[in-house]
Amino acid sequence: MYLIAPSILSADFARLGEEVASVVESGADWIHFDVMDNHYVPNMTVGPVVCKAIRPLTPATIDVHLMARPVDRLIGDFAGAGANVITFHPEASEHIDRSLALIRENGCLAGLAFNPATPLLYMDHVMDKLDLVLLMSVNPGFGGQKFIPATLAKLREARARVQAHERETGRRVRVEVDGGVKVENIAAIAQAGADTFVAGSAIYEAGRDGDPHRYDSVIAALRAELERAGS
Ligand code: DX5
Ligand code: ZN
Repeated sequence: MYLIAPSILSADFARLGEEVASVVESGADWIHFDVMDNHYVPNMTVGPVVCKAIRPLTPATIDVHLMARPVDRLIGDFAGAGANVITFHPEASEHIDRSLALIRENGCLAGLAFNPATPLLYMDHVMDKLDLVLLMSVNPGFGGQKFIPATLAKLREARARVQAHERETGRRVRVEVDGGVKVENIAAIAQAGADTFVAGSAIYEAGRDGDPHRYDSVIAALRAELERAGS
């Protein structure tokens, strides 16, 4: 039930394809693909062309996190580039309900991302259109920031809402956490209600092992902590 999603933001971009394949061979579940546009966030990364290039290198789910606007025109581009999950920030879309529907129409799972100061009420009227909620535990824009502890209470609240929806409909919605996730705090984060864990610097920087890079030991350590949290 727990999924680990390394963020490519901290990968070695000079050999991105190898880094994506390697992290999946080392036991990662999803590839978290951070898209930044220098408008919605003060940084700039990669777009659909790069998603398309890594698509053939792994069967793993590509989890696109849009920190960009406008949202809608990117949805078709990323779906066409092989994305499986597309998540956007409510502040970046003019019409949240429409953007969520568009993601599903394009054959992807739909997610809504919440900044540390964004209230969870944005999910209330679109619960049936959500496959995933992403709680940012840092302000979006950069890897390697420190986990904001108030996220734990917010995760408990998000989990309660998702559980209520699950009881009503039988439909499962994932709760993903993104920012500052490490071996040291992943158990507490899981206990607060997350089931999907993005980790950039903890895996691609701190966990880098050997050349070509391998990530087995850090991913095993994250999983061991998750097992401890679940037991
Ligand atoms: C931040 C990104 C995150 C980031 C996580 O804006 O959305 O996915 O890469 O990196 P770490 O795990 O280093 O905080
Ligand atoms: Zn992200």
